[in-house]
Amino acid sequence: ACKRTAEICQAAPVVPVLIVDDASTAYDLGAALVRGGLPALEVTLRTDCALEVISEMAKVKGGIVGAGTLLTHQDVKNAKAAGAKFGVSPGATPALIDACEAEGLPLLAGAASGSEAMALLERGYTWQKFFPAEAAGGAPLLKSLSSPLSQITFCPTGGVSLTNAQAYLNLPNVVCVGGSWVAPTDVIKAGNWDQIEEIARTAHSTLKS
Ligand code: 3PG
Repeated sequence: ACKRTAEICQAAPVVPVLIVDDASTAYDLGAALVRGGLPALEVTLRTDCALEVISEMAKVKGGIVGAGTLLTHQDVKNAKAAGAKFGVSPGATPALIDACEAEGLPLLAGAASGSEAMALLERGYTWQKFFPAEAAGGAPLLKSLSSPLSQITFCPTGGVSLTNAQAYLNLPNVVCVGGSWVAPTDVIKAGNWDQIEEIARTAHSTLKS
């Protein structure tokens, strides 16, 4: 599972965080992001059609689709059944970790502090989401953890944008960031896939891990 989350985090400097209201846009959205150079896609389970979005997006060649906002064992089952290849959660509980391990879904679990990161490390999770990144202390907090918890690599998410992403990526314990800025809701609603591709391409080409 750890190997799989490592691959996902190393696929590109940005993991798009997607909130999609209309499953009929899912394939085109995923394809545009993949064309722009961002293959790992996190579909949050925050809309009624999220599972359908995962199923549709899973058809995009070259994409790796995961489910975000996993909270319960049922979420994990549903995500897996829909075709998710990995899961992301805002935090971590023993029950959620057990569920992902039982269902065989690699988990990028969230931690917001040294103790939370250590609890995940005890369970063998050396790749973690740092959430909510900006609110919890931003790049200075992760920099502070980089020496005492050097085994852990983080994907900061929450308040990350093209403006502050590089400050995270410059840290030794960060290889990618997560963010919704690469797929703005209004651009998805307008079906402007060229614009999504362009935003993704800009992120891919300007950010270096
Ligand atoms: C989320 O769960 O919404 C992610 O953290 C994305 O946050 P962002 O919208 O600040 O990128």
